[in-house]
Amino acid sequence: MHTNILLLFSLAFFAVLFNALYVSGIGPQPQSLSLNCGSENGGTDGDGRKWESDVKYITAKFPNVRAQYQDSSIVSEVPYMDARIFRSEATYNLPIMPKTRYWLRLYFYPSEYSGLNIANSYFSVVAGGVTLLNNFSASITAQALTQAYLIEEYSLAPMNSQILSVTFKPAERPDAFAFINAIELVPIPDLFGSGTMVGFADQTFDAAGANLQTMYRLNVAGQYISPTKDSGNLTRTWYNDAPYLFGAATGVNLQSNDSFKVQYGELAESVAPPDVYRTARGMGFHKDLTVAFNLTWLFQADANFTYVVRLHFCEFQLTKVNQKVFNIYINNQTAQVEPDAADIIGWTGEMGVPTYKDYAVFVNDRPGDEEIRVDLHPATSSKPEFYDASLNGIEIFKMSDRNNNLAGPNPVLSEMLAQHMAKASHKEFQTDYKTLKIVGTASGVGFFFIAAACIAVYRKKKIIPGFDSHTSNWLPVSGNSHTGSRSTISGKSTQSSHLSSLAQGLCRHFTLPEIIRATKNFDDSNVIGVGGFGKVYKGVIDQATKVAIKRSNPQSEQGVNEFMTEIEMLSKLRHKHLVSLIGFCDEDGEMCLVYDYMALGTMREHLYNTKKPRLSWKQRLEVCIGAARGLHYLHTGAKYTIIHRDVKSTNILLDENWVAKVSDFGLSKTGPDMDKGHVSTVVKGSFGYLDPEYFRRQQLTEKSDVYSFGVVLFEALCGRPALNPSLPKEQVSLADWALHCQRKGIIEDIIDPHIKGKITPECLKKFADTAEKCLAESGPERPNMGDVLWNLEFSLQLQDNPEGSKHSSKGEESETSEESIRNCNLAMHYSNLSIGSNSEMPAGSDDSGDIFSQIVNPKGR
Ligand SMILES: *[C@@H]1O[C@H](CO)[C@@H](O)[C@H](O)[C@H]1NC(C)=O
Ligand SMILES: *[C@@H]1O[C@H](CO)[C@@H](O)[C@H](O)[C@H]1NC(C)=O
Ligand SMILES: *[C@@H]1O[C@H](CO)[C@@H](O)[C@H](O)[C@H]1NC(C)=O
Ligand SMILES: *[C@@H]1O[C@H](CO)[C@@H](O)[C@H](O)[C@H]1NC(C)=O
Ligand SMILES: *[C@@H]1O[C@H](CO)[C@@H](O)[C@H](O)[C@H]1NC(C)=O
Ligand SMILES: *[C@@H]1O[C@H](CO)[C@@H](O)[C@H](O)[C@H]1NC(C)=O
Ligand SMILES: *[C@@H]1O[C@H](CO)[C@@H](O)[C@H](O)[C@H]1NC(C)=O
Repeated sequence: MHTNILLLFSLAFFAVLFNALYVSGIGPQPQSLSLNCGSENGGTDGDGRKWESDVKYITAKFPNVRAQYQDSSIVSEVPYMDARIFRSEATYNLPIMPKTRYWLRLYFYPSEYSGLNIANSYFSVVAGGVTLLNNFSASITAQALTQAYLIEEYSLAPMNSQILSVTFKPAERPDAFAFINAIELVPIPDLFGSGTMVGFADQTFDAAGANLQTMYRLNVAGQYISPTKDSGNLTRTWYNDAPYLFGAATGVNLQSNDSFKVQYGELAESVAPPDVYRTARGMGFHKDLTVAFNLTWLFQADANFTYVVRLHFCEFQLTKVNQKVFNIYINNQTAQVEPDAADIIGWTGEMGVPTYKDYAVFVNDRPGDEEIRVDLHPATSSKPEFYDASLNGIEIFKMSDRNNNLAGPNPVLSEMLAQHMAKASHKEFQTDYKTLKIVGTASGVGFFFIAAACIAVYRKKKIIPGFDSHTSNWLPVSGNSHTGSRSTISGKSTQSSHLSSLAQGLCRHFTLPEIIRATKNFDDSNVIGVGGFGKVYKGVIDQATKVAIKRSNPQSEQGVNEFMTEIEMLSKLRHKHLVSLIGFCDEDGEMCLVYDYMALGTMREHLYNTKKPRLSWKQRLEVCIGAARGLHYLHTGAKYTIIHRDVKSTNILLDENWVAKVSDFGLSKTGPDMDKGHVSTVVKGSFGYLDPEYFRRQQLTEKSDVYSFGVVLFEALCGRPALNPSLPKEQVSLADWALHCQRKGIIEDIIDPHIKGKITPECLKKFADTAEKCLAESGPERPNMGDVLWNLEFSLQLQDNPEGSKHSSKGEESETSEESIRNCNLAMHYSNLSIGSNSEMPAGSDDSGDIFSQIVNPKGR
């Protein structure tokens, strides 16, 4: 009781103070607030943002709990692992400035908390008189979205108050409770205004005074943008749009070139960061093709609400009016059509100037209506120069209804989702350590490079003051500026102090005796490979689980860097086509990494100079496709773009089912700063696979991996090493020789004799074309991994069914024909686009969903 009075008193005091300052005009700037609910002292999250305890802001004492398990998609304990629990109504009083808009973000991690059944948690949240959530079940919602956690973002109409009350109230059902992991309050400028009401000619709406919930926020054809990379300090998260593309025809990815600058002009930079405007999805330049389809995005929405659909545009290819004119439909109704069709240059006046348009649409409660559909189509009667359309970004906000309500019902698992979840849990089961199999690894030639490079980096860092900002691009290894001196690593501590607590939490910590037992005291008979880092042993842990153990060479100081990099990287990455790290040991100067054991060794061992069975052509295709998936995930699926830097056939491993897994991240580099499009760096990698452009310019992009992968593709086709010094000079380098033969049209002549004659001509053509594109001289001309993946899959289809997918002999009539039309469209679409044009892999093809489900909150935030 006393604390309550005290709190009210102090709040009143602050209110008066705020008022005084505000009125006197020297007012304080609105502050943001980040509360790590349930924690004693707050903390710092993975992005370096600070979170404080919520104790000061809550009106009474409520218990706090800690999650018993950190899901692997949660990369930082703060602010997810602690939670505040409410068994009765509870209110937070948060200080705000009057007449100011804020983001209010609520974080929910529906996990196991001791003594609580999270399935019983149903509650409502009311903020400033607006119902944000009602009968809300975080666990049902998270399940339906296949998310471990939820971040709900709201923006309430500016208020005439200095306090925002946020009230949590458990639902009226047995054992119900409310919980919250974190609350964020971020002041924002006036982002919302008026726009066109779709479906009501000449009607406009005004969102300036509206209460809004963010439903989706997508960087169309672009990458994930983390809160710290958002513009105007608004800490928004932008996701890739691929999961929301509807239909087989998904257009092409457009990317501005390096020298392109977004000129905001009258638009505030806080509207959207430049990266949103630097990429767009277009339809392609082929008229016959583009007029035949709609570029369509589809979003789920709660019925009986009005939504603001904000479309972001920026032209970076064309300069004149009427070059590209297109119609925009929202929910099959005209939003922007002839004679008033969209013409970006017509709106902005020139190239490089961004703009956005707001449309509002009411979503009805008729069966099948609970969606928002955005269609773009060339405006043919305007006779533009190009029959094309493009979009750079989409945001969708829900507006509160007449009762000041924003809450919708809990989602119902769709059949598709239920299936997907069954598949996902099957995958989880597969990667469960106990059932996990095997990995052998051999790392190679690049070692001396690495050693030299690491030294160079650290020297440079000391000399050049400004270099720090660059080194922070590295994973925490150098971010933590650990100097790699021997004394720090040979300490007796069993917990490695070099690792972020996160990585330590994510993977298992082995004791040295466990490792010694597993490898029979590092018996040489157990050695399965030798790499720059040291020897690789096979071993057995937990009685039966086979593992591969990489032991650092005690003489190698530089190994430390790779050791740390690899733990930091791998512990956060889980993918069917990436080798899994099980754990590590860092004790008494011994550093070991423990992986799944890959029974069948490296891809190289099954191609040439080998006694092992050689891969058939189809197996080679499948292995290449698997590896391409792994790399595609590294490039686009993880939180940061990760560039492997040492793609080669000995770094593609095979498990006992011939599933390809990409390994060896010792050289990998993340690019959180990919807005520059590249990372300046010291050249690393393996001879024969090195991207010549990277070598020349020392600038690393994911296209360097694409180049190396192109070499791997030719290796698979030709069955020879990337470099073979014993051959005549012009044939030494596989990349040069294969390109030469491919261009002369004599690629057949250098196909591996073991598979010659087993490849259909269509398949060969597609495959060799793809490999050739990967080896393009300059990075931007090379396809991205998504394109490569798509083309390889297509190539496999052409092997299975060289006629294309025109006819299928079995199956139900109607389904088959629909499917075949879809396939035909696809085939047409893609075979008529050069793969260099950055076409995107079609959504819905087997694994793409899995790739994206790991990064994308399907609600789009
Ligand atoms: C963002 O925050 C930083 C540090 O708080 C500040 O220096 C900068 O001016 C802010 N930028 C904007 C656009 O408000
Ligand atoms: C980049 O794009 C701009 C405008 O499209 C063009 O003027 C410039 O020449 C391009 N630069 C390069 C290196 O392609
Ligand atoms: C939408 O509104 C109609 C009419 O008021 C009502 O019958 C229906 O139940 C509402 N649907 C939802 C999902 O709230
Ligand atoms: C829009 O039209 C498509 C087919 O033309 C239909 O499947 C869909 O349900 C319609 N959507 C709405 C919101 O009317
Ligand atoms: C594109 O979408 C609009 C509105 O939904 C529809 O009327 C039109 O038929 C569609 N066009 C094609 C080619 O699908
Ligand atoms: C609360 O949500 C659950 C799950 O969606 C639903 O079964 C139940 O009927 C809802 N209760 C109320 C009172 O709306
Ligand atoms: C695709 O290209 C082929 C020739 O390469 C042409 O015959 C065909 O008409 C094109 N299809 C479309 C839809 O443009």
